[in-house]
Amino acid sequence: MDLVFRTRTPGAAAEGVRDQYADGKAAEVWKTLIGDKKQRTQVYKDFLVGLLREKGCKRILDVACGTGIDSIMLIEEGFEVVSVDASDKMLKHALKDRWDRRKEPGFDNWIIEEANWLTLTKDIKQLIGSGFDAVICLGNSFAHIHDAYGDQREQKQILKNFEMCLKPGGFLLIDHRNYDYILDGGVAPARCIYYNSPHTKDIRTSVYWVSGEPQMVILDYFLSLDENNDDPENRNEFRLSYYPHRLNVFRDMLREIFSQKDHKIFGDFKPLNEVKVPAFFIHIIEKK
Ligand SMILES: C[S@@+](CC[C@H](N)C(=O)[O-])C[C@H]1O[C@@H](n2cnc3c(N)ncnc32)[C@H](O)[C@@H]1O
Repeated sequence: MDLVFRTRTPGAAAEGVRDQYADGKAAEVWKTLIGDKKQRTQVYKDFLVGLLREKGCKRILDVACGTGIDSIMLIEEGFEVVSVDASDKMLKHALKDRWDRRKEPGFDNWIIEEANWLTLTKDIKQLIGSGFDAVICLGNSFAHIHDAYGDQREQKQILKNFEMCLKPGGFLLIDHRNYDYILDGGVAPARCIYYNSPHTKDIRTSVYWVSGEPQMVILDYFLSLDENNDDPENRNEFRLSYYPHRLNVFRDMLREIFSQKDHKIFGDFKPLNEVKVPAFFIHIIEKK
């Protein structure tokens, strides 16, 4: 399978770590896409902060910090946060926020590192210590890992690496879009539980099948940077590609890596039976 063609915005680097954000196009407008952090849906904040507090978590590893939105929210709520990401184009926004807010409580101690999930335990060896209380991988980030070998081995390796960053009794919180819905209907549910921005004009969905198997979902994002001005220079578009995780397959993979059958799945932050067609699934699993 050609992982260069159709998987990224034309012109983005295709070598080394597959950083789909390397051309800076998505990074540049990411904060516009997700909306100002004050607009971040309250229900998301209540869910995440509530769950972490309920589980007694204090030290959090945000493995897909991107521009830092979740990390900042958690620092503001008094958590101790280590944030990593593979994309320097995304990280530079988090680094700038840390610098700008360095005099506020928590921000001076905020650790931000560049790291790749495939080599995570080596990349942040000195930071793991006796393990984090929670690892979070949110915003449909994990689905960026494709299945280059056809047996999901890299995805499993990465989940193992996440598990190794946890202390016994620690939790992994990880999410993915409702790919069952996308594969069955060809479009993503329109609602986005994380992003609350008026700038998103369209998200076009393509599904790439090989011999009857879905290999990739490609989302083309179309943004208008100024709602009142639709000139071409005020438009931005970028493409991101994802591995389409079926809920049951993802559930089993998670349980295999964590060697246990017990884990909770939420649909759009609610118990699964309360949501008809969730846009996102969020899993929480404990390290024994
Ligand atoms: C969709 S963004 C989400 C960022 C953030 N959690 C949010 O909700 O705004 C996905 C992030 O995952 C990161 N990522 C993808 N593959 C990675 C890898 N192999 N190692 C580390 N980070 C990776 C990307 O660089 C990107 O910043």
